[in-house]
Amino acid sequence: METLHLSAEKQEDIKKSAEILNRGGLVAIPTETVYGLAANALDAEAVKKIFIAKGRPQDNPLIVHVSSMEEIEPLVEKIDPRAYALAEKYWPGPLTIIMKKSPLIPDEVCAGLDTVAIRMPSHPTARAIIQQSGLPLAAPSANASGKPSPTKAAHVIEDLEGRIDAVIDGGECAVGVESTVVTLAANPPALLRPGGITPDQLREVLGEIEISHAVFEKLAEGEKAASPGMKYKHYAPAARVSIVKGSFEAYKKFIEAHKEETCAVCFEGEGKYFDKSVEYGKSDDSLTQAQHIFDALREVDAMGCPTAFVRCPATEGVGLAVYNRLLRSAAFRVINLDISVPVYGITGQTGAGKSTVCEMLREKGMYIIDTDLLARKAVEDKEVLEGLKKAFGEDIVSENGLDRRLLASRAFETEEKTAILNSITHPKITELTLEEVHKAESDGFKAAVIDAAVLFESPLTSVCDKIICIVADKETRLNRIMARDNISEKDAIIRMNAQRDEEYYISHSDIIIRNETAEDTRRQINEFTEVN
Ligand code: TXA
Ligand code: MG
Repeated sequence: METLHLSAEKQEDIKKSAEILNRGGLVAIPTETVYGLAANALDAEAVKKIFIAKGRPQDNPLIVHVSSMEEIEPLVEKIDPRAYALAEKYWPGPLTIIMKKSPLIPDEVCAGLDTVAIRMPSHPTARAIIQQSGLPLAAPSANASGKPSPTKAAHVIEDLEGRIDAVIDGGECAVGVESTVVTLAANPPALLRPGGITPDQLREVLGEIEISHAVFEKLAEGEKAASPGMKYKHYAPAARVSIVKGSFEAYKKFIEAHKEETCAVCFEGEGKYFDKSVEYGKSDDSLTQAQHIFDALREVDAMGCPTAFVRCPATEGVGLAVYNRLLRSAAFRVINLDISVPVYGITGQTGAGKSTVCEMLREKGMYIIDTDLLARKAVEDKEVLEGLKKAFGEDIVSENGLDRRLLASRAFETEEKTAILNSITHPKITELTLEEVHKAESDGFKAAVIDAAVLFESPLTSVCDKIICIVADKETRLNRIMARDNISEKDAIIRMNAQRDEEYYISHSDIIIRNETAEDTRRQINEFTEVN
């Protein structure tokens, strides 16, 4: 189908849009929040087309848009008095109210629920089209399902060109995130989705409200969603997005320590510090962040970056909506670089005796994080497994779980393949390690110690206050490896030679511990823990 590109500035295009809607067609229209993909809400056939065009799951209900209170009367069982009070203050505007529906609303609109979501937008073009068409308009955000919502006509075209009858360009959306969704069908009323109207603004009218836990958390397996839209992967660019909490200094160091390509999604004025970056609003201004976040997420994909780290927004007011959208686009990954406990990284060549030293540090009240263990845990993660299957073949996972041998035989074939393996597993290992660091902090340990053979290759170096390198002479290491792994001298030497030389380790570390005799090592540990 050819998608007409219309303009909000032309009266005839408003008229054309209204005609298409009356004929049962689909038109993407600007609203103050995001662009909506509109159809006649009373025409089940037209509504079905929305789900097809977006690839939207059938059980995710739509919002019905109106331009006056009178238009709502036939759509609901009865207008709740609290809806009048909310309307008085916040309509027209970025608020959606859920009430018991009337039989007039087709099941397709509310996905079989007995409630309907109603919103009165303030955007003049949306209002003009509702009025010209004389229809209540069912309109979800006009993006392909799962993608960031559209805040410009170009975003709609990117996702839906050829799949809808028309898009009407009304410039950039002022709010930038979708409306606040509140249900009056629950007691107390519940905030299902944060948006342009803040929780405090709702409380002013409604008194006590509940904030659905789905605003902050992933739904539990099998849990029924109060708002079905909350259960789907959402707002997600192709890149793997993570939210990063902490100071700009910590964020900058963390990104700089990444060897692979990343995009910094940061605040105004910060982008210049990175190779690749997109800015999304001012650091202390949730309104500008809301305006730009979806555009920024799309920009990450346009730049072709495989991973993106987003500066964490403040979560008060409209910031809650920004944070909620980011949580979903990041599949709930939050990297917290706000660390209040000293963090030491420990590394060293094979056979130098990292484990012995870690044991001594444990006795001194430090929390030891074994990244080998975490690497094994990382490959149990669903997303990591999917990535590995894609890169190394479906057959590496059977009903018994991951076939580590088969994976190793394929992944260590060439350096490029090993790099692919690392790009899939390392981010998860980093996340798990940081979770452990925070555990050390909350459990009151004196310090967290990251034990990692490949520390220098990892962005974790950026969270270490000091890097400790364990060294031992060649002969000692050789004997230890042969005894520990029960291998020949020749094999032990091959393994030793595959690593970087001692000089490299020493020059990249802050503290050197020579581990040849237990007594001497203990003396050095005592010295270290006395001053640290
Ligand atoms: O700002 C907005 O609300 C935009 C513009 C176009 O108006 N629309 C929008 O629609 O965001 P959509 O379909 O992308 O999101 C609607 C949300 C979904 O999370 C859906 O599950 C929820 O509202 N919803 C709709 N009807 C509901 C109902 N009866 N009960 C609970 N949640 C409902
Ligand atoms: Mg949506």
